[in-house]
Amino acid sequence: MAVGGGLALYHVLGVATCVALLYFTFGEVDLRHISLSSLPASGFGFGSGAGPSSSSSRAAAAVTAPFVERRGAQLFLDGQPFYPNGWNSYWLMDQAVEPRSRDRVSRMFRAAAEMGLTVCRSWAFNDGAYNALQVSPGHFDTRVFKALDWVVVEAGRHGVRLILSLANNLEAYGGKTQYVRWAWEEGVGLSASNDSFFYDPAIRDYFKAYLKTLLTRKNHLTGVEYRDDPTILAWELMNEPRCTTDPSGDTLQRWIEEMAAYVKSIDKKHLLTVGTEGFYGPTSPESKRDVNPGVWKDNNYGSDFIRNAKIPDIDFASIHLYPDTWLQKQHATVNEKLQFVKRWVSSHIEDGDKELNKPVLTTEFGLSHRAQGFDPSHRDVFYKAIYDIVYASASRGGAGAAALVWQLAPEGMEEFHDDYSVVPSEHPSLRRLIKKQSCRLAKLRPGVGEEAKRVLAACAAGSS
Ligand SMILES: *[C@@H]1O[C@H](CO)[C@@H](O)[C@H](O)[C@H]1NC(C)=O
Repeated sequence: MAVGGGLALYHVLGVATCVALLYFTFGEVDLRHISLSSLPASGFGFGSGAGPSSSSSRAAAAVTAPFVERRGAQLFLDGQPFYPNGWNSYWLMDQAVEPRSRDRVSRMFRAAAEMGLTVCRSWAFNDGAYNALQVSPGHFDTRVFKALDWVVVEAGRHGVRLILSLANNLEAYGGKTQYVRWAWEEGVGLSASNDSFFYDPAIRDYFKAYLKTLLTRKNHLTGVEYRDDPTILAWELMNEPRCTTDPSGDTLQRWIEEMAAYVKSIDKKHLLTVGTEGFYGPTSPESKRDVNPGVWKDNNYGSDFIRNAKIPDIDFASIHLYPDTWLQKQHATVNEKLQFVKRWVSSHIEDGDKELNKPVLTTEFGLSHRAQGFDPSHRDVFYKAIYDIVYASASRGGAGAAALVWQLAPEGMEEFHDDYSVVPSEHPSLRRLIKKQSCRLAKLRPGVGEEAKRVLAACAAGSS
């Protein structure tokens, strides 16, 4: 999320998404056949050895987990079309650094697994902020890398695959602004503009150095490099990239092409996405640009959904969905918001089917509790509208691959909440709705592979 004043800040702080894989829980993550069960329960200080860690570190059959792939407009897992359900918890790495907050990560994964969620989008960046991963260009805090290592293993243990975002357009956790500041401090920056992130040669080199370090990071718990780890479903270049200073879209397009090629030169196993919100740009026909909300009708902020997603190194497209801030109408009614939601999601899935031949994931959607006349039941209606469209697409083997809630948290994380946060245990009807979506999607998976079996087992257990 990016828009919405004060809300935006919180939102930005957390947009990282998690994607999870069920497979790993009982299998080996390590391609070199190091069993998860051989990992010390307490690692280098991560995990107390109590609770979820110990129970999930049980031995497993020697299964090598498969990677999620793309075939045409569908995601595939284990040779079968893959339509998972998922969510966002941007703070996983951040909260895994300090032992006292690490349990929040495990509690979130546990709650998610109970709802049949198997994909989580999360931040794999923290540039120069508190507990930074990248302290300064090319310099990393090993302590924070170990936290991310642990998050990846913990996700796998809960059957969750991760979509990891690699930079922020917004200022939270550093973002473009921090890279530009570094370039100034080192006396190599071309411009003070935040958008110089996309064109300044020195900053592009900083970012590539970061990409290389991350992709080749060897997980200290498993010995597996991130680029070889199937717990990671995909990399996302940037959360909500915008380049306002070049409305032609050329600057952002060039940056995506360059960085996507660079990622693929190091890692060909993982899927790659851009992180776009879905605004149609100047290369799209007017009928598509008309779908843009509010001010985006005439100003795409340098992004161009179809053109960006067509880049061959980009495996799937993404959209976000925030009718409260996007419609820019003081008091849009729930029905007006719903109409927009249906049009926005359907239009982009149609692009995936007809124009891109690539999957389209709704990687963030949320409804603000601050909206005029808000009632919690509005979220049920809003979530269901999106879920129904994704389910209909999945039922016919279409491009609508998944919709990830922004954002879920376990109890006791109020300081990370924004206007969209949901604590599943405190909202039983939403929790049921999310789980129902996981369950009906899992039933569609042909042959019911290991991943779907785990979801269906969660569906059979517990009343909601
Ligand atoms: C860059 O972005 C930050 C954060 O949004 C903002 O405070 C700053 O003014 C921007 N810098 C320029 C030169 O626009």
